[in-house]
Amino acid sequence: MTTSPRRGHYGVDAPYVPLLTAAGLLVCLGLMVFAHMHGLWITAVLLVFLLTLYLHTTLRGKFAAWRDLLDAQAWRGDEQVLDLGCGRGAILLMAAAYVPRGCATGVDIWSSKDQSGNDIRVATRNAEAEGVAERIELKTADMRELPFADASFDVVVSNVAIHNISATAGRERAIDEAWRVLRPGGRLLIADISRSRQYRQRLSALGARVERRSLGWRMWWGGPWMPTMLITAQKPIDGDAAG
Ligand SMILES: C[S@@+](CC[C@H](N)C(=O)[O-])C[C@H]1O[C@@H](n2cnc3c(N)ncnc32)[C@H](O)[C@@H]1O
Repeated sequence: MTTSPRRGHYGVDAPYVPLLTAAGLLVCLGLMVFAHMHGLWITAVLLVFLLTLYLHTTLRGKFAAWRDLLDAQAWRGDEQVLDLGCGRGAILLMAAAYVPRGCATGVDIWSSKDQSGNDIRVATRNAEAEGVAERIELKTADMRELPFADASFDVVVSNVAIHNISATAGRERAIDEAWRVLRPGGRLLIADISRSRQYRQRLSALGARVERRSLGWRMWWGGPWMPTMLITAQKPIDGDAAG
């Protein structure tokens, strides 16, 4: 698929992280200038690196990584896609471009701690700006209790959202729900900064063939110590043996 510039506005993920980093950098620079603590230059350089990489990932890297991911999928064009924790629509609206005869549904609880300016009205405006509004559905719902029938979706995606559920049992419920609403033969793509081993384990227990890999430097949240891992799984069609 040809890449066109994004016309929506997608905010910053976990905005307190770059804000705290920028505050730390200012304190560091202040101490260097006014208290002559010149030895802090290494910390200042590290903070600039952290901040730059974080902003690159949230503003550009995640879009590029997901573009490659979505490009690599085999699309018919009429799929029903679900995005768990869609926020302002970064991945949801990109996915909608692959299903001109289908529908892309996003669920979220719109937490502005997890994404700046997070609001269903912002996601709606972005869908209009990207020219995909007619095949987008947005719902306020918790991914631990999805308001959809079993086997309703061909593709379920989620980007850096499930880890926001703090309890292990809650994350398991979200994985169980993602699996429940996926139709046999359907694909699940979960990218997250932590807990990916838990997702893999849970999905394997549900009978999925699961793969896990890193999404590379474009999805490092400040450095290689905070990578994004991708979990992919395909739901077996009746009679298929799960690996
Ligand atoms: C870091 S943001 C990522 C948003 C979007 N996936 C993206 O890549 O731009 C995480 C999202 O997960 C949502 N979220 C957190 N817990 C949730 C839950 N239990 N159910 C649904 N959404 C949730 C937040 O409101 C937020 O929009």
